[in-house]
Amino acid sequence: MADPARTEMDPLRLVRPELLELLGYEPIEPVDVLAEELGFSAEQIVKLDGNENPYGPSPRVKEALANFDLYHIYPDPEQRRVRQALADYLGVDSEHIVVGNGSDELLGIIACLFLSPGDTAVNCVPTFGMYDFVCQIGGARVVEVRRRADFSLDLAGVQEAVGEGAKIVFIASPNNPSGNAVSAAELEAVLATGALVVMDEAYVEFSDGSFVGLVPQQDNLIVLRTFSKWAGLAGLRAGYGAFPKGIAELMLKVKMPYNMNVGAQVAVLASLEDRETLQQRVRAIVRERERLLVELATVPFLQAFPSEANFILCRARGVDAGELWQRLRQQGIFVRHFSTPLMKDCIRITVGKPEHTDRLLAALREIGGSLAP
Ligand SMILES: Cc1ncc(COP(=O)(O)O)c(C=O)c1O
Repeated sequence: MADPARTEMDPLRLVRPELLELLGYEPIEPVDVLAEELGFSAEQIVKLDGNENPYGPSPRVKEALANFDLYHIYPDPEQRRVRQALADYLGVDSEHIVVGNGSDELLGIIACLFLSPGDTAVNCVPTFGMYDFVCQIGGARVVEVRRRADFSLDLAGVQEAVGEGAKIVFIASPNNPSGNAVSAAELEAVLATGALVVMDEAYVEFSDGSFVGLVPQQDNLIVLRTFSKWAGLAGLRAGYGAFPKGIAELMLKVKMPYNMNVGAQVAVLASLEDRETLQQRVRAIVRERERLLVELATVPFLQAFPSEANFILCRARGVDAGELWQRLRQQGIFVRHFSTPLMKDCIRITVGKPEHTDRLLAALREIGGSLAP
């Protein structure tokens, strides 16, 4: 029987119109989905598409999670223990630190805190898609300042965009997908514009230097970090950031009260206690990155860019990057291919274990000759 109280209406009419047009973030597929789609077992798959850590978390994380017995209690909304442990790790007072359900969540909170609909932010493209995504959700306008041919920042372009009113400049260093880092002089020039600079150091453990120590002296610098890459906790979602004190207070106020779950908190504490093991693995990944770079230089249809992160960007030369990606997939090897105009002739390869490099190189050599120009 028809419900008399029910009127015909289209709930989509009530949605913020700009969100109906949202392109969305281009995510990677989970291993089990990929395996099933292509008829492989999960073990046969070489997953080099998500910049994850092939060694996984520290064994101490598994032990700590197994022994933890307060899963039924809500986490501390002020995240005191984790913030203090991070303060000791970074050498930055805990009042500057906020943790999140991945650093992605912190990007969303930053956009929510600073960007009203119609405000502008600067994105130095090509870069990580999440900056654009959080701005779009908030209704903010994104000014894209294209990086130079070597992927360094176009400082004049950034200065001009801030001069025209942009409030935030997002910078990843090392940058995803290009792998290069910004210098202290470049950061100084961007800070001098007076805009809020969000420096995303998701991959900094694979490079030489962090800017996090500058945060207490800088009114307009936020540095974001994560446990997803160096500590192998991508699936648990554990990110953090160092903020000017007043901003950290506001972040804590506007975030969801229990944003970082207890499992992630336990894992972060155990990871920090087992830094030595994790840093050894980081060193192994860096060594493998350098080997992969040398090997890729011998692949005639790829131009590989040097990297300070756990991945290497390659431009396809004389072959179609999308086809190359597809052919690797058919062999169970997953790398990242982007659909954006700036990146569509590139693939990004996450550095895996030595055996992953070997399989990738064998596949590239086998596929190479048969690729259409
Ligand atoms: C530059 C950059 N920042 C942040 C993230 C996401 O970090 P998290 O897993 O902590 O959300 C990624 C993930 O690929 C990234 O490439």
